[in-house]
Amino acid sequence: MRVGVAREIKPQEYRVALTPAGARELVLRGHEVAVETGAGLGSAFPDEAYERAGATIASVDDVWSSADLLLKVKEPIASEYPRLREGMTLFTYLHIAADEPLTRALVDSGITAIAYETVETDRGALPLLAPMSEIAGRLAAQAGADHLEKPKGGRGILLGGVAGVAPARVLVIGGGMVGYNAAVIALGMGAQVTVLERSVDRMRYLEQILSGRVQLLMSSALQLEESIKDADLTIGAVLIPGALAPKLITRDLLPTMKESSVFVDVAIDQGGCAETSKATTHDDPVYTVDGVIHYCVANMPGAVPITSTRALTNVTLPYVEQLADVGALRAVVANPELARGVNTLRGMLTYEAVAEAHAMDYTPLDDALAAGVA
Ligand SMILES: NC(=O)c1ccc[n+]([C@@H]2O[C@H](COP(=O)([O-])OP(=O)(O)OC[C@H]3O[C@@H](n4cnc5c(N)ncnc54)[C@H](O)[C@@H]3O)[C@@H](O)[C@H]2O)c1
Repeated sequence: MRVGVAREIKPQEYRVALTPAGARELVLRGHEVAVETGAGLGSAFPDEAYERAGATIASVDDVWSSADLLLKVKEPIASEYPRLREGMTLFTYLHIAADEPLTRALVDSGITAIAYETVETDRGALPLLAPMSEIAGRLAAQAGADHLEKPKGGRGILLGGVAGVAPARVLVIGGGMVGYNAAVIALGMGAQVTVLERSVDRMRYLEQILSGRVQLLMSSALQLEESIKDADLTIGAVLIPGALAPKLITRDLLPTMKESSVFVDVAIDQGGCAETSKATTHDDPVYTVDGVIHYCVANMPGAVPITSTRALTNVTLPYVEQLADVGALRAVVANPELARGVNTLRGMLTYEAVAEAHAMDYTPLDDALAAGVA
């Protein structure tokens, strides 16, 4: 199979969908890999590294026009729509429920599009989202520590304190993938960490793996009110799958928080968990409301493409190998995780929530597969 790797052209996107190590694995399995010129540069992979791995370097036109399987990181943007075509399988983050023009472009082109974010295990885990949550959680503690420094407008407290001086207090709301990773880094920096969670099972698990080094408390409106008063750094890390984040931090709580404390709202990509949260960018990451510094960057992993690219490709490669080895139709039939990732199959919209969101025709995947095989 011919596997193409496109260069990302979305502003501020430095990741690439395949590392040279991944390219080598595909070449060893007998596939041809064509990487667009300069595709890996933002992640510190020069073209030569791909060539040494056995891939060819090709122009944007060649990569898009000849790939059977096209790998990307972000969804195609409007200027790329004319490049979508029948016979190609696209594997990337898509998020089309919020993007009607792209949904229509995928359907009209007749392409098969598999979204990283909807690949799902039988137990409901999202393996291609998890590494970005790990990274965002770790960055949240770092960004918080940074903005707590006085020259950055913060309270001027060192996360770990020193001998004889108390460390900063960090409050993490939500103890899932983001929250756990934020807590681990904050602990590593020497902070005193509290995690609010609403799942008792999850708290039991965190208690075990963190060996009692963080305070774990049941999340409630009252507990949040109590805990947030003492926090130097608050990290929002809640998720209710498929829903907007709950607005746990109401506007009237802000005056009760410490002056120049920092609030990092990682849940901002689901609308944020404070009434005062609004998305920011890496260029201008913070703003202040009622004396509380808000950091609400919606694509935090974008700041560390060297780490993010490797973490992403570590988890996508097994699926890429399967898609390349047996082709999209057979791979989807064989692997229910991949099947859940299919958003369009040969131009048929197979993701019900997306069809509903845009009032478009929906074809159940099994029907689409039957039609596709016939
Ligand atoms: N900004 C970014 O760059 C970025 C990157 C990755 C993930 N995220 C976002 O971070 C958020 C968290 O992601 P995750 O992977 O950790 O999800 P997750 O499902 O692993 O964890 C969410 C946790 O929140 C808990 N929770 C739900 N309601 C709660 C409440 N009221 N109080 C306390 N805890 C509550 C859940 O029990 C769960 O343990 C998501 O919105 C995700 O989209 C943002």
